[in-house]
Amino acid sequence: MVKQEKKRILTGIRPTGSLHLGHYVGALENWIKLQNEYECFFLIANYQVADYVDRLDIINESILEIATDWLSIGLDPKTSHFTVESLVPEHAELAMWLSWFVQLGRLQRNPTLKNEIDALGNKPPSLAFFNYPVLQVANILMPKAHLVPVGEDQLPHIEMAREIARKINKLAGYDLFPVPKALVGRVPRLVGINGPDIKMSKSANNAIYLKDDEQTVKKKIMQMYTDPTRIHVTDPGKVEGNPVFIYHDAFNKNTDEIKDLKERYQNGKVGDVEVKMKLFNAINTFLLPIREKRNYYDQNKKLVKDALQEGSTHASKVAKQTMKELKSTLKLGY
Ligand code: TRP
Repeated sequence: MVKQEKKRILTGIRPTGSLHLGHYVGALENWIKLQNEYECFFLIANYQVADYVDRLDIINESILEIATDWLSIGLDPKTSHFTVESLVPEHAELAMWLSWFVQLGRLQRNPTLKNEIDALGNKPPSLAFFNYPVLQVANILMPKAHLVPVGEDQLPHIEMAREIARKINKLAGYDLFPVPKALVGRVPRLVGINGPDIKMSKSANNAIYLKDDEQTVKKKIMQMYTDPTRIHVTDPGKVEGNPVFIYHDAFNKNTDEIKDLKERYQNGKVGDVEVKMKLFNAINTFLLPIREKRNYYDQNKKLVKDALQEGSTHASKVAKQTMKELKSTLKLGY
């Protein structure tokens, strides 16, 4: 039996590329904060990628990238379980059972799924794509998670997890699964560097990555979209909805500096270059320790692989236990 001393978190990410600032303020920051209070399962969802990437061979690289990002921001594999979804095939089995508890229309109405299917453009969604929210529910219920810290777009999936947990508990006659709660980060939807309407994402090509070096970060910030109506330094500028100030608010710890810059910007007394240089300094200060740790793990890749193996081995034990309980309670399987 695997002992459980704390409440549990399960959360995850698809291995489709490196992590960026949007991930950080939207979710990761909460993971870091809560990793001692909860027993955490951090999952790399490598069953849930095929419709997202043209080149499936980059997924395995991406798994290592993400685990390295996690280590670099200070997630601790000694206390948290870094899990590769496919190393715990019980996820697929649980998703299969759970899919009997979800009506088709429930998935057709899921707004996040709808958006993602639209984003596929001409490519028709596969059956697995359509069903991935159920797989995600299986991820969450498997370790009996209480809390799921995620980005805002994931809320419809967590809602489904809550519904399914309640249904199963009713059938079981006791609280087999906690009804999991979602937790969204400080900046639910960080805009990208190209303008205020599109959120930061790899596919929109508007991201600053946690692993970007100093020069890359500087270049991206200097190119950032600001207030397009402001032509001369002496023109009063707009602060609301201006990505440069959204980032100042999100990453610059010096609130006096932000206040001063905003005032001068609105009064036409500061140029974009100064605002951006100060933003660069703030973001670079934030990224510096992350970058240092990343260097270390890049040179010690075995530590990254070990973290994934050990976490997945533990998650596997927990999964077997949950499946055993579920099957015997609901009389599933043979
Ligand atoms: N679908 C999530 C995303 O796109 C990743 C994910 C997979 C996940 N399984 C999860 C998130 C379980 C939270 C809980 O980011």
